Amino acid sequence: MITWFIEGTVVFDTAVILDGYLYELDAHLDRFLRSASKARITSPFPRSTLRSILLQLTVASRCKEGTLRYWLSAGPGNFLLSPSGCPTSAFYAVVIDDVVSQHNDGVKVITSTIPMKSPLFATMKNVNYLPNVLSVMEAEDKGAFASIWVDEEGFIAEGPNVNVAFITNDKELILPSFDKILSGCTAKRLLELAPKLVEQGRLKSVKTADLTVEEAKHSAEMMYIGSTLPILPIIAWDEQPIGDGKVGDLTMALSDLLWRDMVAGPNTQRLRVPYIN
Ligand SMILES: Cc1ncc(COP(=O)(O)O)c(C=O)c1O
Repeated sequence: MITWFIEGTVVFDTAVILDGYLYELDAHLDRFLRSASKARITSPFPRSTLRSILLQLTVASRCKEGTLRYWLSAGPGNFLLSPSGCPTSAFYAVVIDDVVSQHNDGVKVITSTIPMKSPLFATMKNVNYLPNVLSVMEAEDKGAFASIWVDEEGFIAEGPNVNVAFITNDKELILPSFDKILSGCTAKRLLELAPKLVEQGRLKSVKTADLTVEEAKHSAEMMYIGSTLPILPIIAWDEQPIGDGKVGDLTMALSDLLWRDMVAGPNTQRLRVPYIN
């Protein structure tokens, strides 16, 4: 376990358990292994074995609603930086009972003054979350729920453990592109589902793009996106209302789309947990 604390040579990921199904386990597992590869951690098991361990753990937990969280570390070793003293990598997982529900109320956010991670570290889900923790603490100090990171070029990035999305006054859904931030499994799924609202004439288009703070602050609606939310409406940013300062209809329509996918979506997204009675 020592490497955990000394070097932080650890990547991690999460998947939601809802109604006895694991949601988007494969997308999370793929990202987990991409993170491991960037962190140069070799898994002690092939992907199929990791998946099977995670499923068996969920069965054993009997948990029907909560989160499955897992880590891959360079493994037990010494107090030195080089993982060459760690003979084998180690895989850990836990299941946490928790309430997973839709969010109907909006929250306030602030622009973070804590520097965001460079793209190499932001795109790899590793346990060095101190900047994320400090940015949440800063938001709480200012009476807000959480924060928004803006990159050095002035474009919107992401939140501390969530992606962010905007609906323009022209009814375009825009998400910041994923090249410098974490590729959110929920945000990616939203990009697949949201065109349904375009077909219905409720949204004009769905895209990823670079968005300036000025453009973003003048959007009609704004939201956080993440596995356990799946969408959290944002009604004010740096004490300035977003749109009319109320939870947006399109935000809630997107929340409904994701929620239906979580509770009744196709079996490509939902894996039934074979609990033993
Ligand atoms: C920094 C960061 N951005 C975005 C996300 C949202 O990703 P997901 O939708 O896969 O939960 C997370 C959560 O994993 C995160 O930690």
